[in-house]
Amino acid sequence: MLLRDHENWLLRCFDCGREYDREPVSSRCECGGVLELVLTDGFPRAGDFRSGRGVWGYSKALPVSDESKIVTINEGNTPLIMAENIRVSERTELFIKNEGQNPTGSFKDRGMTVAVTRAKEIGAKTLVCASTGNTSASASAYAARGGMKAVVLVPAGKIAGGKLVQAIVHGAKVIRVSGDFDRALELMMQEAKDREELYVVNSINPFRIEGQKTGAFEIFEQLGSKVPDYVILPVGNAGNISAYWKGFSELKRWGFTDKTPRMIGVQAAGASPLVQLFQSGKDRLVRWDNPETVASAIRIGNPVSWRKALDAVNASGGQLLSVTDEEILAAQRNLASREGIFVEPASAAPLAAIERLKDSLPRGSIVVAIATGSGLKDQGVVKVDSEKLPLISDARELEDYL
Ligand code: F0G
Repeated sequence: MLLRDHENWLLRCFDCGREYDREPVSSRCECGGVLELVLTDGFPRAGDFRSGRGVWGYSKALPVSDESKIVTINEGNTPLIMAENIRVSERTELFIKNEGQNPTGSFKDRGMTVAVTRAKEIGAKTLVCASTGNTSASASAYAARGGMKAVVLVPAGKIAGGKLVQAIVHGAKVIRVSGDFDRALELMMQEAKDREELYVVNSINPFRIEGQKTGAFEIFEQLGSKVPDYVILPVGNAGNISAYWKGFSELKRWGFTDKTPRMIGVQAAGASPLVQLFQSGKDRLVRWDNPETVASAIRIGNPVSWRKALDAVNASGGQLLSVTDEEILAAQRNLASREGIFVEPASAAPLAAIERLKDSLPRGSIVVAIATGSGLKDQGVVKVDSEKLPLISDARELEDYL
């Protein structure tokens, strides 16, 4: 097995517990399990976080050895917006963490800046990923910024047009795979496992998770050093829920707080293998073939980090639930038309879930929904017939509409 060397961290397999002090080229444990990065010294203390600087303001909590190699486009530092018009229930405060304001319009940039920095440190030349769209857009942008190549595999005909355009405009080699995301990921992992020149930037890459955990640090700071009661987020491959849980758990371990939030993961009904697992009480995920949902970002039947997600939900006293496409689209409209925040369908899933859960949330709860990506990337899901819009040619006609 090919290994890469390490600095102030080690990697531990989440499944079998094996530790690595060097990074396997495949990004995976020999047993096939998912690795987790464990910092071995230099834990952050109060005052170490440089607030308002985004991901790299938390560098004391990140695995970076050479700050001159950082590949950044100013990711993170996204707003936490209090809902003013959508009321969950009496005295419940709802906040939206608007990750669509990252450089490429999704939360992926938080993880990508750390993974691509790592790629630069070890001299990798080519980034590879399989993607439902946002990872490919982000990987392509950071490859461009870092002077590397990107090869991205996407399920043919199944990713949002805006995301495809991003990958192309940033100069990536885009390869379509006949089949779904899970097939694309399998093909990519098979090819990359022994090829040292390829650097995998899917969320199986533990450096990605390190970057994404900074979303938790930001929320804590934005709430005035408070941990919310609930963090609700969409789940696809299950990297992000694992990352937020890691971030909140570390804040507790390092003594910033003694509380962690309940983690609530939301899947689309047509792509909800993790919800099925959670409800069954079993301990092995059953893969879904041909998952289907309007929320193409989370159209995933075989989530790689399912074990981590299940742990996050169980350890935090949270839950996993699914929502229908109709609920997702209604929540997307609601958020756009009442709070002015336009998110893509996957990112509206938490709002749809809140609508279901609202009667069971205790009074006075602070609820944070992670709006993972911008609606501008996936305009095709909003049915607009522009021919039916009013058309005028002079001011008198305009008056008819005012
Ligand atoms: N929301 C959006 C907008 C996403 O793009 C994704 C994942 C998720 C949520 C789910 O995050 O996979 O960490 O559970 N998109 C990946 C991609 C799979 O390829 O862009 P997850």
